[in-house]
Parts: sequence; structure tokens; C-alpha cells
Amino acid sequence: MTYTVAIIGTGAEPENPSRDGYAMAYHHAAGYEKLNDCTLVGCADIVRKNAEAFADEFGLDDDAVFEKHDALLEALEPDIVSICVPPAVHTEIAVDCIHSGVVKAIHCEKPMADTYGGAKLMTQEANRHGVQLTFNHQRRFSDAVRTAKELLDAGEIGDLQRIEFSSPVGLFDYGSHSFDLCNYFNDETPGKWVLGQIDYTEENVVFGSHNENQAIVHWEYTNGVHGIAASDSTGTGGPVSAFHSHNRLIGTDGVIVVGPESEDEEKEPPALRIRRDGKGWEAVNTEDGLHGWEFIDRAIADNVRCLRENEPPELRAENALNATELIFATWESSRRHGRVDLPLTIEDNPLQSMLNSGDLTPAPVGEN
Ligand SMILES: NC(=O)c1ccc[n+]([C@@H]2O[C@H](COP(=O)([O-])OP(=O)(O)OC[C@H]3O[C@@H](n4cnc5c(N)ncnc54)[C@H](O)[C@@H]3O)[C@@H](O)[C@H]2O)c1
Repeated sequence: MTYTVAIIGTGAEPENPSRDGYAMAYHHAAGYEKLNDCTLVGCADIVRKNAEAFADEFGLDDDAVFEKHDALLEALEPDIVSICVPPAVHTEIAVDCIHSGVVKAIHCEKPMADTYGGAKLMTQEANRHGVQLTFNHQRRFSDAVRTAKELLDAGEIGDLQRIEFSSPVGLFDYGSHSFDLCNYFNDETPGKWVLGQIDYTEENVVFGSHNENQAIVHWEYTNGVHGIAASDSTGTGGPVSAFHSHNRLIGTDGVIVVGPESEDEEKEPPALRIRRDGKGWEAVNTEDGLHGWEFIDRAIADNVRCLRENEPPELRAENALNATELIFATWESSRRHGRVDLPLTIEDNPLQSMLNSGDLTPAPVGEN
């Protein structure tokens, strides 16, 4: 059987990625094109010229181009939908796809949703209607990440004690990947509590949603492993240079470091390093680093294989929800000025609520 695929939210310019638009749809479509059992049948974008340019690129006819996603669902009845719209509309569109009764699988971009309630609703409705729902935390498919997990599982650094990450673009946008990787390394163990603080003094809107300027967060998992993370999007390089890593795994007998961030290719340390107790740092050879469009191909191939074989995909909604809980729990901790015990019981987006109430008043960009 061949699966029909449609993309909602095509974006405009894949050659010119920025925090306002990466046109992720083009990367999703390229992933489906590589699979023998998938055929791209249509696209929708509220900006018609974006959808038309995408249709030109991927050889779709005029009658496969839509402005409204519900018109596309009704006319084409696709088996698989990729949702590549901004986070604020993920929930509405995903739930509409689920309720269409025709869509079998949805691959949605991260972060899951702009409220915790929205993220839970998507997960609940997908489960209730038997639709496979996944989120594009594609870094789980990096060879550096996979190899780090293999080294950890083989006991090369003893027992895992602490996981760290640093994010250069906030806990919501970039941090969605980062928390997700922490949970991947710790076998999706649920969080126990989260203690966090944020600073938000200058507007930092990424793909249409607010992200704090700086944050520090400490959390504990129910298996006793701790997490520590920092975000800094002020451009000073704060936590990234302080942590010298994207993710650092600290064990009883050593340390593994994944994907340090460096603009300077000359100085770029290896994508993966290990230090066993009493020894020096050792670079570990990997096929790739922490970033690469080919990870999306691998994610999409895994989703489609799991749909066919009725297996749980690596990027399933339950895993994404674990990361989303830690993001919103950090912002909730800042709102409450205290520790937040999990499970998280809120429905809103605490950062957005603090903006709405006037508790946070970030200056427009350039006014500070
Ligand atoms: N996985 C990653 O590493 C990664 C990288 C960049 C962006 N993203 C995520 O991808 C998502 C999309 O970001 P992007 O950079 O591709 O954005 P983009 O602006 O390039 O494309 C989004 C498109 O969605 C369209 N759109 C908005 N509302 C719509 C609606 N209701 N129906 C149909 N179309 C609608 C817009 O007109 C736009 O063309 C975001 O959630 C973003 O966080 C993920």
C-alpha cells in the first residue's frame, strides 16, 4: 500500500532560514519523497503564494493546492499529514486532522503547542482515535546522540547521576529539543519536581511565540537522576560557553559531552567526547553532529515504518509531552516563585499568562 501525504503550512523560503521562518515543510516533503511507499498529494497554506511555490517545487497540480487545511482534508483524505505551521496553531490543526476520521498519522513540528493544555489535548485525542501522532524532535536521530546513549547504556561512565543542557534560543523553541534529549538519555523517566527562574526583559519571539531571554532550571527525575539547564538568547554565549556543551551526561565514573556549540569551525570540538575517570578527554567518531536535515529524513522514515508495522515511533507524542511538561513547569516555577511538583496540573502557558497579566513587560526589540 502507498500512503498519501499532505503538508499543512508550507512556508516561503527554505533557502533563507531565520527565526521567523525555516519553511520546515520543504524538509518534511524531501523526507517523504525518499520513501517508496509515500506519495505527496497536496499542500495548504493560508498564504496562497507560499502553497503555490511549494506545489511548483514538488510537482503538485493546482487542484492539490489549498488555503484552508479543512478543505484539503475533505478533498484529498490524506493518510499522513505533516503540520509545519507556527506552534500557536498546532493544536487546532492536529485535532482537526484527528477528527477528520481519514488521517492515520500526523507528524507535527515542535514545540508541541503554545499551552500545556493544548499539548495534552492533542495527545489525548490521537490516542482516543487511534491516530499515530509524532513531533519533530529529530535530533534523536543524530548519530552523535545515538552513540552517546549507547556509551551510557554500556556503562562507560558508570551510573547516570546528572544531565545538563544549554540552549541559545530559549527553553521553549530550542529547549524543546534539549529537554527531549535529556529524557531520551534518561529512558523517558517521569520528572519529580522542577525549580526554575527566568528573565524576560526584551521581547524574544521565535516562530510567533515568546521565549524568555535567560533561564536557569534544576529538576529531578523519579529515578533520582538530576537535570540542570540554562538558556541564554541574549547573544553573550553565557550558559553555552559555561557548559561547553549542548548536553552533558555526568555519571559515577565519567562524563559524556554531546555537541558543543561553536561559531568558529576551527575551534569546533568533536560532536561527541567522553572522559572516563582518571583519564583525559577522548573524541568519539560519529557520522554527524547535532544538526542536520537528514535527521528529519530518518525521523519520517521511522514514523512511516511504525505506521505500517503498528509499532510505537521514537518521536511519539507521549515522549514529546514529557519534554513539554518540563518547559511549562519551569515557567510555572518562575510564576510561583517556588518548586513545582510534578505531574504539572496547569493548562495555560505561564510565560504568556505573565505577559497578559502585566507581570512581565519585555521591551520591544531595540528599545533596551
Ligand atoms: N525541528 C526543527 O529543528 C525546527 C526548525 C525550525 C522551525 N521548526 C518549527 O517548525 C514550525 C514551522 O516553522 P517554520 O519555520 O517552517 O515556519 P514558516 O513561517 O517558514 O512556515 C509556516 C507556514 O505556516 C503558514 N500558516 C500559518 N498558519 C496557518 C494555518 N492556520 N493554516 C495553514 N498554514 C498556516 C504560514 O503562512 C507559513 O507559510 C514551528 O513550530 C517551528 O518551531 C522546527
